[in-house]
Amino acid sequence: MSLLNIDRVTKRFGGLIAVDNFSARIDEGTITGLIGPNGAGKTTVFNLLTGIYPVDEGDIFLGNQAITNQAPHRIATAGVARTFQNIRLFKELSVLDNVRIGAHSRGRAGIFGAIFRNRAARREEATIHAKAIQLLQEAGLAEYSSELAGNLSYGLQRKLEIVRALAGEPRLLILDEPAAGMNPRETEELMAFVRRLHDRGLTILLIEHDMKLVMSLCQRVIVMDHGQKIAEGPPEEIRTNRAVVEAYLGKGA
Ligand SMILES: Nc1ncnc2c1ncn2[C@@H]1O[C@H](COP(=O)(O)OP(=O)(O)OP(=O)(O)O)[C@@H](O)[C@H]1O
Ligand SMILES: [Mg+2]
Repeated sequence: MSLLNIDRVTKRFGGLIAVDNFSARIDEGTITGLIGPNGAGKTTVFNLLTGIYPVDEGDIFLGNQAITNQAPHRIATAGVARTFQNIRLFKELSVLDNVRIGAHSRGRAGIFGAIFRNRAARREEATIHAKAIQLLQEAGLAEYSSELAGNLSYGLQRKLEIVRALAGEPRLLILDEPAAGMNPRETEELMAFVRRLHDRGLTILLIEHDMKLVMSLCQRVIVMDHGQKIAEGPPEEIRTNRAVVEAYLGKGA
């Protein structure tokens, strides 16, 4: 069963076709890698998936629900959560508060509840607090709960971003270069963490330039170049795919 269905999506920026008639299906419970050279259109696909940019053509479905061109908060509520290529945490807030903010993307009490602090809102707040603590424990970040997010090491900040995304209880987690800038030990830890999420049944789509990570973590790999999908398959096939090698190294390689 595919959880995400991207159907012939195109995105133009002026004369540039950043995403060109791109289609992909992501099966429930899998880890899929989206790879390709710089400027291939990978992040733009994520921005279309999460409603940051409208698509020019095509459709996107989560399960059987069309999420094409919905507002970002609606797509988050539908069950898509992401991290960004550059860390986006509230660095002046505590680790715990960063996770609580993530949980609010799916809160129900709404803005009036938050202002008037009615009973439903207080109950929801308590639930969110407990859930945030539990997520931090599972991620091995509980000891940093009251630290300012900006004081964490780079690797831990990237992990915290994932935890914040998880607080929204997504069906699909999308990670834009989660290992970028990490040292080998941080990368190993990140991989173990992502594997645990997968073991619990979460569907994960990730962009990554670290091929060792992609090859050992992903069951399927989709390759983009110049906005188009140029290959798709299991990692061992992608590794030796001629079009892929050419896209990275140039023709004649
Ligand atoms: N908001 C924007 N306005 C204009 N052009 C954009 C915009 N966002 C992306 N682009 C262009 O679209 C193309 C695809 O960019 P994108 O960021 O999706 O690439 P990418 O595959 O994520 O690359 P990288 O691996 O370097 O992160 C690039 O040529 C980029 O300059
Ligand atoms: Mg990118």
